[in-house]
Amino acid sequence: MRLNQVISLSQFIADQQSKHKEATGDLSKIFRDIKFAAKIVNRDVRKAGLVDILGAFGTVNVQGEEVKKLDMLANEEFKSSLTLGGDCCAIISEEEEDIHHIETTLNVNSKYIIAMDPLDGSSNIDVNASIGTIFSVYKRISPVGGPVTMGDVLQKGINQVAAGYIIYGSSTMMVFTTGNGVNAFTLDASIGDFCLSHPDIKIPEDGNIYSINDGIYDRMEPGVQHYVDYCRNSTTKETYSARYIGSMVADFHRNMLKGGIFMYPATTDAPKGKLRLMFESNPMAFITEQAGGKATTGHVRILEIQPTEIHQRNPVFMGSTHMVEKVEEFMKQ
Ligand code: AHG
Ligand code: MN
Ligand code: MN
Repeated sequence: MRLNQVISLSQFIADQQSKHKEATGDLSKIFRDIKFAAKIVNRDVRKAGLVDILGAFGTVNVQGEEVKKLDMLANEEFKSSLTLGGDCCAIISEEEEDIHHIETTLNVNSKYIIAMDPLDGSSNIDVNASIGTIFSVYKRISPVGGPVTMGDVLQKGINQVAAGYIIYGSSTMMVFTTGNGVNAFTLDASIGDFCLSHPDIKIPEDGNIYSINDGIYDRMEPGVQHYVDYCRNSTTKETYSARYIGSMVADFHRNMLKGGIFMYPATTDAPKGKLRLMFESNPMAFITEQAGGKATTGHVRILEIQPTEIHQRNPVFMGSTHMVEKVEEFMKQ
């Protein structure tokens, strides 16, 4: 009898590490800590309806958005795991205004910085739709041991060492890249580990799914409106389907597997768009490119934007290359 070979996330990371003689193993430990927090958050998400963690926390975050209890819980779980793990010297989070410095004796000499959106798709928590966690890993620029500076934190997306997301959907998956393709691992609850389920994911060059919040149509720039009209118009050669959950992780994940474009454009009331460069756009852009897709603001490559603020926003068009190129053409006209 031949058994199916199962590759665990830890095994996969160890194999990748052994291919890099210079690797110290610190990045593997960061993944260990992210994986641990993801399992805790997954547990909380799965029982959310049974215990008192649905609903609002009663405050608004730095973006002025209502904070849900699960947002807070996830933020604390990831911070705690990364702090105890000892391999991360600072965190920036969608839920925190400033840099969260980690100055324990363990962490003070570590080189990695994490950017995270601990709970993405918060508005979907209470209605049992898919939500996620998004993360990026950067190496600090200033020497280890000293204080982490804004320059360490505000790096371009092209400097990401790793990026990924966890989707708490009909199953729980971790999808990530370390700059060498994209792989997805599904959580097998019976053994409590993430196992390789989707090796070397590639986004189809063409797709027929377009994902955009139709409710903001009247506030979009004409080029984007024309592209949406083009997708809506069933007399075109290709037929398109609109699919929009309102949870970037879930919308992105579907489009990456099936082919499609995810858009969050600038609007008249939000001229920079809604999504956050450090927490949402950059990690997803890195994954997109590593899967062979394209990620831009409609004009420039997302990964090349020089950030100037932790919470800055930017318009997003990402997914199947030909679809992104098409909307860019419309935006040029
Ligand atoms: P978050 O829950 O982290 O604040 O992110 C929500 C984001 C993103 O996940 C999603 O694509 C987008 O907001 C949806 O926005 P609209 O409700 O404006 O469509
Ligand atoms: Mn988000
Ligand atoms: Mn969030």
